Amino acid sequence: MKDHPQLMATIRPLVGAAAMLAACGAQLLTLPASNAQSNSAAQTDIVFSPGYRFVERDGDSLYRNVCSGCHMMDGTGARGAGTFPSLAGNAKLQAGAYPLHVVTHGQHGMPPLGAFMSDEQVAAVVNYVRTHFGNDYQDAVTAEDAKAARP
Ligand code: HEC
Repeated sequence: MKDHPQLMATIRPLVGAAAMLAACGAQLLTLPASNAQSNSAAQTDIVFSPGYRFVERDGDSLYRNVCSGCHMMDGTGARGAGTFPSLAGNAKLQAGAYPLHVVTHGQHGMPPLGAFMSDEQVAAVVNYVRTHFGNDYQDAVTAEDAKAARP
């Protein structure tokens, strides 16, 4: 190309931007593959950051620090980038085994957060959601139940 300084000044940043986009595109293409890999690893063999533990002990602080980010402080859940079901007045919490299973195994978009907790912590947070947000299931689950529910 002959010298067209003005034209080149316009084109050069465009070429740079195109190269950047191409690089991003390549990264985006590789992302789903690596996600799929880690998902299937998590399903076959649940080792979710072993060694790291939540330090909160009681159901209230466990709920606030671990669960409320998705299920909201008032338990009503949220819809946006995903669907976080409402735990408020939720009849599915009637049988303690169900929330125990969800917390220890994870379920779809919910990670197996019980992997970061002791049996006592799992029981405490499950009992918390079963007795708050309009739920009144008084047959508390025990640490033994939590232990038995683990994968
Ligand atoms: C990263 C976001 C996230 C966090 C943190 C989270 N959850 Fe969930 N939870 C979800 C999603 C998403 C679902 C829906 C799963 C499904 O599709 O079945 C769910 C489902 C549930 C359900 C089943 C509700 C129903 O109606 O079937 C219970 C019970 C539950 N979560 C309890 C908890 C508790 C207790 C904690 C804290 C220890 C917690 N969750 C933390 C995302 C989260």
